[in-house]
Amino acid sequence: MVPAWLWLLCLYFPQVPSSHGRKIEPGDKVRTLLQAFPEAQPTELYVEVPENYGGNFPLYLTKLPLPRGEAEGQIVLSGNLGMAAKGPFAVDQESGFLLVTKPLDREEQAEYQLQVTLETEDGRVLWGPQPVLVHVKDENDQVPHFSQAIYRIQLSQGTRPGIPFLFLEASDRDEPGTANSDLRFHILNQAPAKPSPDMFQLEPQLGALALSLKGSTSLDQALEGSYQLLVQVKDMGDQASGHQATATIDVSVVESTWVPLDPVHLAENLKVLYPHHIAQVHWSGGNVHYHLESQPPGPFDVDAEGKLYVTRELDREAWAEYLLQVRAQNTRGEDYTEPLELQVVVMDENDNVPVCPPRGTPISIPEFSLPGTKVTNLLAEDMDAPGSPNSHVVYQLLSPEPEEGTERSAFKLDSTSGSVTLGALPLHAGQNILLQVLAVDLGGAEGGFSSTCEVSVTITDINDHAPEFTTSQIGPISLPEDTEPGTLVATLVATDADLEPAFRLMDFAIEAGDVDGTFGLAWEPDSGHVQLRLLKNLSYEAAPSHMLLVVVRSVAELVGPGPGPGATATVTLLVERVTPPPKLDQESYEANVPVSTPAGSLLLTIQPSDPMSSPLRFSLVNDSEGWLCIKEVSGEVHTARPLRGAQPGDMYTVLVEARDADEPTLSTSVTVVIHFLKSPSAPLPTLAPVPTRHLCTPRQNHGVVVSGPSEDFDQAGGHSSYSFALGPNPTVQRDWRLQALNGSHAYLALALHWVEPREHVVPVVVSRNGQMWQLPVRVIVCRCNVERECMRKVGRMKGMPTKLSALGILMSTLMAIGIFLILIFTHLTLSRKKDLDQPVDSVPLKAEV
Ligand SMILES: *[C@@H]1O[C@H](CO)[C@@H](O)[C@H](O)[C@H]1NC(C)=O
Ligand SMILES: *[C@@H]1O[C@H](CO)[C@@H](O)[C@H](O)[C@H]1NC(C)=O
Ligand SMILES: *[C@@H]1O[C@H](CO)[C@@H](O)[C@H](O)[C@H]1NC(C)=O
Repeated sequence: MVPAWLWLLCLYFPQVPSSHGRKIEPGDKVRTLLQAFPEAQPTELYVEVPENYGGNFPLYLTKLPLPRGEAEGQIVLSGNLGMAAKGPFAVDQESGFLLVTKPLDREEQAEYQLQVTLETEDGRVLWGPQPVLVHVKDENDQVPHFSQAIYRIQLSQGTRPGIPFLFLEASDRDEPGTANSDLRFHILNQAPAKPSPDMFQLEPQLGALALSLKGSTSLDQALEGSYQLLVQVKDMGDQASGHQATATIDVSVVESTWVPLDPVHLAENLKVLYPHHIAQVHWSGGNVHYHLESQPPGPFDVDAEGKLYVTRELDREAWAEYLLQVRAQNTRGEDYTEPLELQVVVMDENDNVPVCPPRGTPISIPEFSLPGTKVTNLLAEDMDAPGSPNSHVVYQLLSPEPEEGTERSAFKLDSTSGSVTLGALPLHAGQNILLQVLAVDLGGAEGGFSSTCEVSVTITDINDHAPEFTTSQIGPISLPEDTEPGTLVATLVATDADLEPAFRLMDFAIEAGDVDGTFGLAWEPDSGHVQLRLLKNLSYEAAPSHMLLVVVRSVAELVGPGPGPGATATVTLLVERVTPPPKLDQESYEANVPVSTPAGSLLLTIQPSDPMSSPLRFSLVNDSEGWLCIKEVSGEVHTARPLRGAQPGDMYTVLVEARDADEPTLSTSVTVVIHFLKSPSAPLPTLAPVPTRHLCTPRQNHGVVVSGPSEDFDQAGGHSSYSFALGPNPTVQRDWRLQALNGSHAYLALALHWVEPREHVVPVVVSRNGQMWQLPVRVIVCRCNVERECMRKVGRMKGMPTKLSALGILMSTLMAIGIFLILIFTHLTLSRKKDLDQPVDSVPLKAEV
């Protein structure tokens, strides 16, 4: 009971809670708002009234915040929304206080909505409406009540401690949320107090009754029986004071019916009405809810009675086994005990066809593989239960069928394992075979499902053929000695009977007959043609013939017997000797010839470039005018007859053929060009040839003295001197040098280092006072010894002593020497002043210098 003076204090400071429940200081804010906005909707006025007020009535609650100076109006109090029901409230017109006329009961009405207006007599509103909320403040005037006076509950043995099996319900009509209605439950008494006085525990706030730990252990040993509990409910929370009520709980302990379940076998694809009952569980305690879980999640359910159902058809191939867990739970979803497990086994039905493995890429089997070689292991998969006939697949070879009339087949199939092996019938490279195998389940029994499986088999080639040449003997092939390196000599062709391109690749080699790499082979990697080419110069002298052994091999390793004789080819080559045609010392010959040149004049000499080469035979080819003749051996070209008809300035070209004397097939031809000149005023008188002399070649430092016409000739022309020149022949001009010594003599020497050793006739033109003479100077050019003597026998040459005459000369010389020596000795004895070192000028072949 709140004392009355406290309430008065409260009224003196009226509380105006805002909508947020914030307390506003007494009287100020509301008044301020009213003054500022007299027309605005006034804030609700909040007033609390204690329930069951025991003081005097009327009880003044609060002074209404009426505007000042509006005294003529009448204060009207009404229920909310203009309703007249204003209940036990009134307004004192004099003071403007709100008052209540009788005690209020919160349990009857907790709040009153009022509004206050200031109205004129004719009902015109001067002020307001001002809402007023009157709250009845609760007093603990209500006693809690249990929902039942006696609770009866079954408690199953095996219930876990602390798991509530009964929830007590009690009510208190005092204001909820306050201590007045805050209830606590307690066990006051347990009968019998055996085997333990506190078998149970009661959650004070929730009223949840459970076995205590001690109770749980001793309950299992106890026989069936019952306990009576006296329970109390009390308000005012944990405070000692408060109203209370009691009730009785009859707890009968029953035996547990929560027993393990046998596994359930369910056929797949079962055609029954669903949900289909499969098992039953029962928790003997009260207040039970069953809960089912399936691992993996499956179509199972449990109803309130603990009946388990399957809700639709099962498929073993999707899931063959489920583990169900059924829980007995209280209303809070707590397990009374361990869940029961139920194994559901789905039984197989032959509802799956054997499935063939994917066909995939063809299987390659090398040719000539032995019978029994494994080809593949066909494994058709049957999804039905493993180990059962439903998944027992057997195989049967459909194709290829064994050849008619023969027991031999290309393939063998093991009907149980599906293993395919090669049969006795040989297969050949390049064959593509489609194996068709029937896979039947139920072990091949009637009514089984079947599939036809296909396997592609390709018989691959092996490198069992060695490449072979199409021709084993090639040639003999003639090759000129001067064949250029790089020339194709022969093309050899080889073949390989294998199919596989890789096994047809060939390698070629010269195995014998080509010691120094004169020959080489070239081939395209994937071709059977190999080219034999010459790589170096041939030499008839070194090797007049070649015998080459060319071999061909398979690039890939050969299987089986090695290469046969066909892998070798013999190429025979004969080298043809090539002798170069004779070569002349000039590419063409020219001579300037006066048209008056008499017959028999030497014009030029054609000679081989190499004096040591084999001798040549010369002939004129097309001397159509017949002007010229050529010495067959020496190559000297002379005029054959006077050049009648030739015009000065004209040119006459004649072809000369030079033929090898030893090898007449070898010849060359050269042009001789004669340029005709004007004939000199008078024909040149030819002087008598000077005696033949000799010069050494290679050139030595000496020459021959040429003298002009004789003294008698000389007398006619007085004493003027001669001039000397070489004849017009360019060869002569090239080979010789002429130097004037004095008015009557000139000196002729070799111009070149080397001039062919033979007799030369050097035409020298001598002139004096407009008179010209041709002087043929005969010189023998020869190889010399140290003594400057000709080493060559030149017996046939004019002017040279023959053997006999030389012997004669030698004898006479020796005799002369002998006589001379006698004379000398005689002379020495007579007079020692005589000189013995006199030169012996009678020695032959000694050149004049
Ligand atoms: C091969 O012969 C040619 C012409 O006959 C010649 O020019 C070349 O030098 C020779 N080569 C060898 C390596 O002898
Ligand atoms: C001789 O043959 C050569 C080359 O064929 C030619 O140039 C020349 O004119 C010929 N001479 C005569 C006189 O037919
Ligand atoms: C010219 O020289 C030659 C040789 O040296 C000689 O024999 C001759 O007497 C000389 N003649 C004259 C006129 O000097």
